[in-house]
Amino acid sequence: MKLSKRILEIHPSATVSVLGKAKTMKAEGKPVISFNAGEPDYNCPEAASKAAIDAINRGESQYTINSGIIELRKEVCAYYKKRFGLEYTPEEVLIGPGAKPLLYEALQMLVDPGDEVILFAPAWVSYVEQLHLAGGKEAIVDTLKTDLVPTKESLESAITDKTVGMIINSPSNPTGAVYDEKTMKMIADVARERDLWIIFDEIYERFVYAPAKHVNILNVAPDLRDKVILINGASKTYAMTGWRIGYALAPKSLINKMNTIQTHLTSNACSIAQWAALGAIREGDPDVEKMCKAFEERRDTILRLVREMPYVEVKDPEGSFYIFIDLRDTPIPDDIEFCEKLLEEKFVAAVPGTAFFAPGFARFSYACSMETIHEGMGRLKEFLETL
Ligand SMILES: Cc1ncc(COP(=O)(O)O)c(C=O)c1O
Repeated sequence: MKLSKRILEIHPSATVSVLGKAKTMKAEGKPVISFNAGEPDYNCPEAASKAAIDAINRGESQYTINSGIIELRKEVCAYYKKRFGLEYTPEEVLIGPGAKPLLYEALQMLVDPGDEVILFAPAWVSYVEQLHLAGGKEAIVDTLKTDLVPTKESLESAITDKTVGMIINSPSNPTGAVYDEKTMKMIADVARERDLWIIFDEIYERFVYAPAKHVNILNVAPDLRDKVILINGASKTYAMTGWRIGYALAPKSLINKMNTIQTHLTSNACSIAQWAALGAIREGDPDVEKMCKAFEERRDTILRLVREMPYVEVKDPEGSFYIFIDLRDTPIPDDIEFCEKLLEEKFVAAVPGTAFFAPGFARFSYACSMETIHEGMGRLKEFLETL
């Protein structure tokens, strides 16, 4: 059977495939420790479960309006007003089944075959594949040599006459980097000058550790409102990855177009999950704060443990729940081989940096218990010491 060029050129998500291998080994009875999950190890706020149960009992089992129930869209607007002082109307909000399809819809709307889009590497695995599905091509700004943040020179040198926009992810998956106000302003200035759109993925915005501060790009460049699509969601903030609720905020004309794609793609996000997300946004703040504090303690612990190991280096992550370890000075500088051996020999699962345009690195998620961190890092240390 002939398969499309499109499908032959796409790569499976590396994070999902490592997870699969680790799960299979676990099912075989191996003592696997996973540092590859991109999700908090907490349950969702009780308010979310209660709102979902109420919705089930009310019989909310039909299609909702495609863009999402008005109650949730209003709540997202209220959240953005309170958190960032940004004014959006419910017509400027699209609820999707997770942030991932919203990113897909945004790229389908904005990218023509041959267009180039700036990605700041290390970059989350799905951006590039979604971009390819839209026929676009990545223009990589490598931040590894510049402290995990782009510089004006590195950004400008990646722009060609084919460049149409960029995707910013702060706090970053996989590095934990948080772009400060100066960096964000610099990016905004370049975008303004070169007339580029910006997809601003701030899905980890609630997990930032002092003294770092999350900066929404529209707070430093409000004039770019018409060119910016904000992407956020309940997945990480409220530990609701399985419920599948994301939100996009952008001018109405853009939201309408993304919504049109969504009508043909997924239709509305799950009705019950939408009510659950509403409960989470309304009452889940104490849960978020508790999680953030726990992640900060775990980050400090994992960093301390990694810094006691030979060969490896790591930069302090300022946000999200990942550390990105530099393996290039180890006896196995090839990250794929390193992660495979680590899993086979010590049953520790991590994601190779190659998946994020960063060969020679590995991503470890610390959204797991302290006990797991101690045990897993102990095994990593042993592994390194025997190389
Ligand atoms: C940077 C980034 N953006 C978007 C997503 C997608 O989130 P969702 O689960 O809401 O689709 C993820 C999930 O891992 C992510 O890491």
